[in-house]
Amino acid sequence: MKQLKEEDIQELITIALLMLLRSYAPYSHFQVGAALLGKSGMIYTGCNIENAAYAPSNCAERTAFFKGVSEGEQAFTAIAIVGGPDGMPKDYVTPCGVCRQVMAEFCDPEEFQVILATDRQHYEVCTLGELFPRGFGPGDLSKK
Ligand code: THU
Repeated sequence: MKQLKEEDIQELITIALLMLLRSYAPYSHFQVGAALLGKSGMIYTGCNIENAAYAPSNCAERTAFFKGVSEGEQAFTAIAIVGGPDGMPKDYVTPCGVCRQVMAEFCDPEEFQVILATDRQHYEVCTLGELFPRGFGPGDLSKK
């Protein structure tokens, strides 16, 4: 696994924290921000976007992935995630199962790094594989 540079980690956390301001979470009041680093070096941002009908709500991580893919990038290095009640991060926010599945579509579980943070000083880096062991991915469809 290639180690992320400390400056990349700091930049991703900083941007994810800024994205808390864009979160639209009038129902849960749980605000989440994400910053996704593409292999091109581009950073795609995301926030959670809730809906009065609840089910159409979208997580911050998927917002960032769908923005990246729709901009033409399909290979990613890392994502930083921050969040908490009323936008105040107290604990690490780990991605939901649906978001882990979306990550598995585009990312190698051994390589892709997920940065769980509360602020720039407090974070933990893990691989997608640690969060989503034995996940079903695109390769499984082509196995004979
Ligand atoms: N949420 C995220 O955006 N990302 C996560 O990793 C966990 C949960 C959002 C979904 C919903 O808008 C709110 O947080 C409460 O679940």
